[in-house]
Amino acid sequence: MSGQQQSAREPGYFAVSPLMLFPKAFGRFKVFIRQAGRLMLYASENEVYTREHLSRLHENGVSEVFVQTGDRERFDRYLENNLAQYLLNERVPLEARARIFHIAARSMVRELYGKKLPAKLLKRAQFARIAAFVEKTLAFLARGESLKQLATLMAHDFKTYDHSLQVFVFATALMNTYDLPEDEMVQIGVGAVLHDLGKLGIDPAILDKPGPLTAEETLIVRTHPAKGVALCSGLNLSLTAMQCILFHHERADGSGYPGSVGNGEIPLAAMAVGLVDVFAALTTARPYASAVSPFEALRVMRDMKGAFDTELFKRFVMVLSGAEIV
Ligand SMILES: [Fe+2]
Repeated sequence: MSGQQQSAREPGYFAVSPLMLFPKAFGRFKVFIRQAGRLMLYASENEVYTREHLSRLHENGVSEVFVQTGDRERFDRYLENNLAQYLLNERVPLEARARIFHIAARSMVRELYGKKLPAKLLKRAQFARIAAFVEKTLAFLARGESLKQLATLMAHDFKTYDHSLQVFVFATALMNTYDLPEDEMVQIGVGAVLHDLGKLGIDPAILDKPGPLTAEETLIVRTHPAKGVALCSGLNLSLTAMQCILFHHERADGSGYPGSVGNGEIPLAAMAVGLVDVFAALTTARPYASAVSPFEALRVMRDMKGAFDTELFKRFVMVLSGAEIV
């Protein structure tokens, strides 16, 4: 997770938007700016950013500042601690918050594409199509009410937000192997980002529990798809996006929840979100299990016989192996 992008021009540093230096926040990392072709120290560790800092950068037309790659972890923590608060601050005009959300999410998504998917995918001509879906999905989500819901999710449990962006990245790559209309792809993206929004209604103590859940806790966790749909009722989502949220824990063999419906009754997009959700979860360290390699995750999923649609699973394996299938 991070809100940065690698700067090809400054080895050892990554570039971030100066808009990420939130007023009154401080980061435990140094910030550099480029002046006359050289990087100069702009702010030290623990320096509180002020409106003056920001307007000075703005007046000088600075569009990116730099942080040392060794400070990546610290920058991630800083973003985690400050992004949600900024987005929820109603004194900041909605337009400015929407812009920040878009910039931060786009950087995180770009980084995930680079880290989690084969480089070949990024080089293909079709990637421009995926990039367009990503932009349109983020623009849709940056609107007032959905922005508020996502910022609340970040504040409630940043890990779930981070996971949701991973699911979004894998879902767009997988669904791009079908020839779907652009509007449909954007709504699948929206459903993927919002699929776990219902976790807003689950106690973080349960979400972060390091051991196995009790039967009662399991029932509580299993309410999150329906809670997610309820939370999204004012967001003007399409049926496709709603289905991704409600059905992402259904399984092809009927072993899922909330309805235990089987293959044939689960919409394709929801099955795709459910499949990549499991992959993203297995390949990320969780409170109760360590991360496994992508190869191992696919092996585990293959052994969950009948849980996933065979064709969809095959396509996902091909996407991850960089095969030319689109
Ligand atoms: Fe979920």
